[in-house]
Amino acid sequence: MPLMNWDNSLDVGVAKMNDEHQQILALMNQVYDAREADQKGPEVLHLVDRLGEVTIAHFRDEEAYMEETGYAGITSHKLIHKDLLDKFTGFATEIRAKGGEVPEKFLTFLKLWLTALIRGIDMKYGPKAATLKQVG
Ligand SMILES: [Fe+2]
Repeated sequence: MPLMNWDNSLDVGVAKMNDEHQQILALMNQVYDAREADQKGPEVLHLVDRLGEVTIAHFRDEEAYMEETGYAGITSHKLIHKDLLDKFTGFATEIRAKGGEVPEKFLTFLKLWLTALIRGIDMKYGPKAATLKQVG
């Protein structure tokens, strides 16, 4: 059973960003499954590192997209990315120090990241933003 499945509530309306979010979600699920299966060690560490790399590349692409489209909220969105990466790096360091053992709070962090960041914040830069404003 995965940490989370992709559904329409995560669709930000930009194909490239959806693809990258799906890639991130798939890696998060792999980390989750590894922990559920009591796995620890270099393979788990490798997954966490891979998640970090994919995330850094995604944030870069997302920031470039926001720049291209002239999105007004780019400064605060960049700060959120920075804060997330700082937290992620902290967890990755801890996981490395423990030889690839993933603490439960890391998964809570990943899940919150998906729900709060993608659903709440990423949604605002995409074409759905206009609809969201009408609704809320
Ligand atoms: Fe994103």
